[in-house]
Amino acid sequence: MTDTLIASVQAGFEAKYCYAPTGVWSAPGRVNLIGEHTDYNEGFVFPFAINRHTFAAISLRSDSVARVSSSFSDVVHEADVTAIARDAAHDWAAYPFGAAWAIQEMANSLLKEFEATGFDCYIESDVPVGAGLSSSAAIECSVALALNDLWSVGLDRRQLARVGQMGENVIVGAPTGIMDQSASLLGETDHAVFLDCRSLEAQSIELGFAAEGLELLIIDTKVAHRLVDGGYAARRAACEAGAAALGATSLRDVTVADLGRAKELLDDVTYRRVRHVVTENQRVLDTVKALQATGPRSIGKLLYASHESMRDDFEISVDELDTAVETALRHGAIGARMTGGGFGGAAIALTPIEKIGEVSLSVLAEFEALGYAKPDIFAVSAAQGAKREI
Ligand code: GLA
Repeated sequence: MTDTLIASVQAGFEAKYCYAPTGVWSAPGRVNLIGEHTDYNEGFVFPFAINRHTFAAISLRSDSVARVSSSFSDVVHEADVTAIARDAAHDWAAYPFGAAWAIQEMANSLLKEFEATGFDCYIESDVPVGAGLSSSAAIECSVALALNDLWSVGLDRRQLARVGQMGENVIVGAPTGIMDQSASLLGETDHAVFLDCRSLEAQSIELGFAAEGLELLIIDTKVAHRLVDGGYAARRAACEAGAAALGATSLRDVTVADLGRAKELLDDVTYRRVRHVVTENQRVLDTVKALQATGPRSIGKLLYASHESMRDDFEISVDELDTAVETALRHGAIGARMTGGGFGGAAIALTPIEKIGEVSLSVLAEFEALGYAKPDIFAVSAAQGAKREI
């Protein structure tokens, strides 16, 4: 599969630009096991890189023109590499342009002499778009890794994660945290990334799903979510307002023991937003502990508690996600929750292998009975992070 995609992205590049690319870089999407909307609150997250990737074929040019194109649209987007700015006309190309802009920002502040040259870039991806599996971070990270190599900037993977996030915040205009890019860059096979989003300290924790006869199913509801829409920013603003009202620099500094005081000080909605983040941070710590002490079969309840908190307190679930979660649990999944930013996208269901058929068929049947769009259901495994392929 990987070899076919590499050959295909090379051929795509040659067809568009009439010469061969210098190399091909890949970066995976990610699924978040637990720790939702905690990253921009300087909290904990526990995602892993998945075996779905974006491939970017790239060559530098001798002028300052940056061109990006892809297998999913006929348009070639063009910009002056030294003057990339937020512009709706960039459409999806705002992700690669954002990475190119942010890496220059960082290079200019770190290196004495740095001059970016233009580049040609062609992209192919098998990360589903709009499913909450970070197709955008996969684009950003593949391009950031490539330009870091080709421009000889020398940034490490943590700095590259920040590059991806900056590009998304400033050039795309989505106020997202650092989780997705960290997972895409720091992932390891069969391991999840336990990330402290305050210190950016990351630890690889073995998942051991296969050894326990488990698979992680993705149930993509096909309800498209977009992080540039208002809901994500509104949640972030509520968290910041809640932290300020409690005299904290971020919700990372608020603990479960502080919730009583928070309830007295905050209005009901802000309090519930705060309670989600505070209890979710604790659930991440509990999940890592349970996984290490007693293995993956012991994390099911925590996954579902996370879902309930997002549904009731953070209010970012939708009927399709709730149905996917409840149906999967009724038919044998040991834990399930919505994953990613919310308002659509995918649910995950940690499922014993012998129950995969029953869970999948039941979810399909339930969605059909309720008149929902047909969901896409597939298993993912924890894969290695971004790398140069050829
Ligand atoms: C999106 C953002 C992340 C994170 C999640 C919610 O994926 O890109 O930074 O905030 O939503 O956990």
